[in-house]
Amino acid sequence: DGRDGGPVCPGSLIVVSNRQPYRHEYESADGVDAGNGANADPSITVDEPTGGLTAGLDPVVQRTDGTWIAWGDGDADFDVADEDGCVAVPPGEEAYTLRRIDLPEEAVDSYYYGFSNRVLWPLCHGFPELVEDRANDFEWYRTVNEQFADAVAEHADEDSIVWFQDYHFALAPRMVRNAVAPGTTVAQFWHVPWPAPSTFRYCPAGGNVLEGLLGNDLLGFHVDRYVDRFLESVERFLPAARVDRKGRTVHYEGTTTRVVATPMGVDAAGYDREAREVGSGAGVLESLRSEYDVPHPDDAVIGLGVDRLDYTKGIPERLAALERFFERYPDWRGEFTFVQKATLSRTDIPTYERHGDLVRSEVERINSRFGTDDWQPVIYTEDYLEEAELCALYRHADLLVVSPLVDGMNLVAQEYVAASVDDTGDTLLLSDRVGAHDLLGSHAITIDPSDIDGMAERIADALEMPIDERRRRMRTLRDRVFDADIERWMSAQFDWMRRLHGDPSRSGGR
Ligand code: G6P
Repeated sequence: DGRDGGPVCPGSLIVVSNRQPYRHEYESADGVDAGNGANADPSITVDEPTGGLTAGLDPVVQRTDGTWIAWGDGDADFDVADEDGCVAVPPGEEAYTLRRIDLPEEAVDSYYYGFSNRVLWPLCHGFPELVEDRANDFEWYRTVNEQFADAVAEHADEDSIVWFQDYHFALAPRMVRNAVAPGTTVAQFWHVPWPAPSTFRYCPAGGNVLEGLLGNDLLGFHVDRYVDRFLESVERFLPAARVDRKGRTVHYEGTTTRVVATPMGVDAAGYDREAREVGSGAGVLESLRSEYDVPHPDDAVIGLGVDRLDYTKGIPERLAALERFFERYPDWRGEFTFVQKATLSRTDIPTYERHGDLVRSEVERINSRFGTDDWQPVIYTEDYLEEAELCALYRHADLLVVSPLVDGMNLVAQEYVAASVDDTGDTLLLSDRVGAHDLLGSHAITIDPSDIDGMAERIADALEMPIDERRRRMRTLRDRVFDADIERWMSAQFDWMRRLHGDPSRSGGR
């Protein structure tokens, strides 16, 4: 760890991700001064990083004076950057270079809305029936991966550690490997699950995907089962690769890839601090209630769901379970309200659009079935919430339901635990099909997201559980979330990189 207590990267770091850590925009109402020089357009503001990954990595890249390469998707992104798309960030501090890659609309449609989110996303989450293999999507995916790999090669040297994030860049690692000095370390973290080989076999260009990923020296997943399934997939679909299952390494075309499980965490101390500062979330709830004109008794018990509006998150199943719960336990009508915050995502894809319509119509149906003049069972919002408001809501909610059908990790579960600062016995209901269950399952209330009756019963269990038991569980959950926080994750990754970086034996012929 570094002198300031944060994890330190063992080389000069080049992070590559699809989403950028800072986004410049014209005339946004919120955001901070863009700090983009004296002649800059005063109407340009910048959104600060939100989300676990960008918020967690940003300080590390700042400390290493590194480079971050990402898709520039903001209106003003390229007006503040130089001709290569580079801009110094954070605004005013200029600690590192953010290099933005400009993608034409056709590329975005095929690389992002196509191969990334119509093929790899559903496949990795075990929904092969949702895969749409459209003409040209893979070719664009390859072209965009090339464009990113070229940009990396321009910034990389012997001392560099290139760290790709997620499924948008399955091909780039091998391209980079072939283009940079032999000493450069290439690593990747795959934030989504890896599917069973019986699912991966439906991946168009699956062999190319595996070959690309095996250009990495280090490939990280959240949990052991994704590592095992990845190694199995390589064995089945890339016979020329030599897989050492026990040693968790693969040798392929001169590269040795170490495959590791390092579960990602959240900035637990940050959520804790923010939750204490914001006070109780009654205010946020009050504004939601008045905005949506929801009648609501002040002392109702509050359940909460926070998700991107995605078919993997199990939101319709959760709503069905709530409906079943209110059928079976009519005494809780008027006493328990469920707040569902959904964030719109990838709405250009019809599957997402249809899913959103389904969720909204189910909420309406359930509310009209049980709602009275004084109470409505579900408060549903797609509004943007500031991090402080979200923390307030986490703190105020008596229970959180995390019910994805599959999820690589699920950071919301961890954020909720970190923000549960009152020791009043908040409860976490957690799907057994998310990575976070490996860490938190034994002290959460486990739910099977496809068993509607069972979920309804678990909600009842949570509401009836004695407070001492709830407190005891939450205290243990907090210990775990604080222990396995984002710094821990990053240190684990950097430790692996340190071992591999500059190790002449790591790859054949280098
Ligand atoms: C998941 C993915 C991330 C992605 C995020 C938001 O968590 O693993 O890579 O950034 O969803 O989705 P979006 O498509 O809006 O970036």
